[in-house]
Amino acid sequence: MSAFLVSGGNRLSGAVHVHGAKNSVLPILAATIMSGKVSVLHNCPDLKDVTASIQILEYLGCKVQREGGTVTVDSNPMSRCDIPDELMREMRSSVIFLGAILARTGRAVMSFPGGCELGSRPIDLHLSSLRALGAEIDEKSGCLYCAAPKLRGCEVNLSIPSVGATENTMLAACGSEGVTVITNAAREPEIADLQNFLIAMGARIQGAGSSTIIIEGGYPFHELSYRVMADRIVAATYLTAVAAAGGEVEIEDVDYRQLSTVTATLIEAGCYIRSDPKRVFISCTKPLFGVRPIRTAPYPGFLTDAQAPLMAALAKSQGTTVFVENIFENRYRHVAELMRMGADIRVEGRVAVVCGVNTLRGASVRATDLRGGAALVVAALGAEGDSRITGLGHIDRGYQDLDETLRSLGAAIWRTEDGETL
Ligand code: UD1
Repeated sequence: MSAFLVSGGNRLSGAVHVHGAKNSVLPILAATIMSGKVSVLHNCPDLKDVTASIQILEYLGCKVQREGGTVTVDSNPMSRCDIPDELMREMRSSVIFLGAILARTGRAVMSFPGGCELGSRPIDLHLSSLRALGAEIDEKSGCLYCAAPKLRGCEVNLSIPSVGATENTMLAACGSEGVTVITNAAREPEIADLQNFLIAMGARIQGAGSSTIIIEGGYPFHELSYRVMADRIVAATYLTAVAAAGGEVEIEDVDYRQLSTVTATLIEAGCYIRSDPKRVFISCTKPLFGVRPIRTAPYPGFLTDAQAPLMAALAKSQGTTVFVENIFENRYRHVAELMRMGADIRVEGRVAVVCGVNTLRGASVRATDLRGGAALVVAALGAEGDSRITGLGHIDRGYQDLDETLRSLGAAIWRTEDGETL
């Protein structure tokens, strides 16, 4: 079993480049099948979830080539419209293939998706939106059988601004006849990135980034080359790592506006932050203070994916911070592991009360989901002594070369195989 071995206490200094965004590239990879042509994607991160998406594309019959950060997908030879259960279980985002496959072939067969266990994570909004566009969907024994000989544009009003349901609807609507208007759409920057990709492919679509997205379906698609945006969640994780370990780091190639809730919180906690449109600089030289309650919310609110890494940083602070997790019902699984490191955190339902302690101690801990796993790395960097973090399969879903990048900043972190110690 592989593990991260972390010897805490080193201050971080230097500059890091942030890789392409997982949450952008996954729907974009799904969207490549709609054109039946060649799509060249630059700045594609090398992540477990990207590999899983490529496996789905290859299963469907597409030709995929990867050279460094460039992935080329030729979807012309696509010959299937089903996704086997083992590929669907790899990640939650596999469900975004549903809208794309329907738009391309008019039929799709797949099981329910897997992914991080953050609660029940239903897909009812995905299905009701596709049904509104004219898809007939039968749910039998954990499988979805979908048929849509003709998708027709319509009004889709999402009861929750779900990121995935907005993306699925956008893709299916691009392959529909007529106009689709999505109201209460998710406003995350990754939705705007997907829109930019679709426009570059020939689609007529506007409004992403606001809560109303208008799609004129039925336009032909063409070949394209597209650069995926930088990963704001990875950037947020590095910011919290510096806050936890102390130091001075410049995070390059990120749009500071997408990180404003995280940077504002870290300034309140006592960090110095300077931003411009392409980079964020953070300096943290003093112990952190507790901050006002953090309530996760759809964008532009505080991003749920940064909740766990920020909690890890604030576990060692002067004062108390209250977290309220409003997006997912079970996103505090990292708390028990942080408490093994000496954190003082009480959870009641959606609320976690973090009473800052003076020191965290290194411990043997296990990642149980992607961002919770990153939180354990953040805590270990700021802890006294050695930590061993297992469950790296979760962390590898969303962070490319996390240990190497942190080492380049001066952290003592190594990936090892079973049995090795520091
Ligand atoms: C995406 C992100 C994830 C992020 C989340 C919220 C990707 C690959 N993942 O996940 O990193 O944490 O947005 O910003 O982009 N819901 C329903 N019914 C549905 C769909 C969602 O009830 O059909 C609920 C979910 O259970 C959750 C909330 O809506 O409580 C938000 O989920 P959603 O925005 O869909 O998240 P994901 O797209 O799964």
